[in-house]
Amino acid sequence: MAELTLTGARKSFGTINVLHGIDLAVKDGEFIVFVGPSGCGKSTLLRVIAGLENVTSGEVHIDGERVTHLPASERGLAMVFQSYALYPHMSVAKNMAFALENMGLKPAEIEARVARAAAMLRLTDYLDRKPKALSGGQRQRVAIGRAIVRDPKIFLFDEPLSNLDAELRVATRKELAALHAKLGGTMIYVTHDQVEAMTLADRIVVLNAGRIEQVGTPLELYNRPSNAFVAGFIGSPRMNFLPAVVMSDDGTLRLSVGEREVALPRAASGLVAGANVTLGIRPEHIDVAPDNGMLAATVDLVEQLGGETFIYASAPGLPQITLREDGQSQFYRGDAIAIRFAVDHLHIFDATTGAALARP
Ligand SMILES: Nc1ncnc2c1ncn2[C@@H]1O[C@H](COP(=O)(O)OP(=O)(O)OP(=O)(O)O)[C@@H](O)[C@H]1O
Ligand SMILES: [Mg+2]
Repeated sequence: MAELTLTGARKSFGTINVLHGIDLAVKDGEFIVFVGPSGCGKSTLLRVIAGLENVTSGEVHIDGERVTHLPASERGLAMVFQSYALYPHMSVAKNMAFALENMGLKPAEIEARVARAAAMLRLTDYLDRKPKALSGGQRQRVAIGRAIVRDPKIFLFDEPLSNLDAELRVATRKELAALHAKLGGTMIYVTHDQVEAMTLADRIVVLNAGRIEQVGTPLELYNRPSNAFVAGFIGSPRMNFLPAVVMSDDGTLRLSVGEREVALPRAASGLVAGANVTLGIRPEHIDVAPDNGMLAATVDLVEQLGGETFIYASAPGLPQITLREDGQSQFYRGDAIAIRFAVDHLHIFDATTGAALARP
């Protein structure tokens, strides 16, 4: 198993600059997840690591060895894509064995590796079947099996579960977590799915337009985002952002939000009276106050999910606010409500740069 280091990795296609200097150190055995908006460079970064693309400048090291210009076949990595093209005319066992035969391994060794991977992925009973006689989830497991048998230094996954239906995704996600626990291998995983990122990752890398915004454990990113981009990207429904003005900075902090003033119980350094800031507050940190709330608002929409409810409400002069309540709600569209922020959980961002100025 292996560690990976990227130093100043840049990638351009002609005049299009896609990666703008990526520095990242992945530890041995770590499960790293790349997230970011569509087109931000996640797949390109994974392909640069795999050796399927060459960096325009910068370096790639695996286990201390410089592999920047080594072709994919010599890096000892295995990649699983979203569209896992299995060989349709080959059995499950043959699909998994194929690359090993090309590597010239002995038949007994190949059989042992395939049997071990099949057992791990609960495919033992399907080894003689052709891909067309498998469910989507089983096929995806075969694709993962093809990577496992090669005993790669690092596993690279590019949205491997996105073609599966919701139930299969959950099942396969749990299998991947169990697999990582069992194999202990270094894994780098690209996903659009918040839950996959939060549950699978040791650390999440948030990418934006070819740059790293922040690297941290899932809860570090959730609780202490270093800027408004990360704060808005991690968490669903997303964090609310409200424009505010710093009213006073003597001891406690007072902010004007819409038509009201909100006092924060703590001081924040570097905030001066008159500064424009963005207040960040997650939906679960806003309540409907029975009386005497901070803001008067009108309910626009209520989404009842059974175990929890999302309420979308408007307050004068502010963007629509999302509230998350546990359980079921008795509010309806058009209701007048008073809402209250859990002031201990407010984030404050620079209105211009988005940098975090004060965090819970
Ligand atoms: N071969 C190429 N030639 C030119 N531009 C490319 C090439 N490959 C990727 N790009 C561009 O690089 C940017 C990043 O693409 P990439 O596939 O890495 O994004 P991504 O983050 O994986 O997006 P998605 O979430 O949609 O998969 C995009 O703007 C894309 O158009
Ligand atoms: Mg992609």
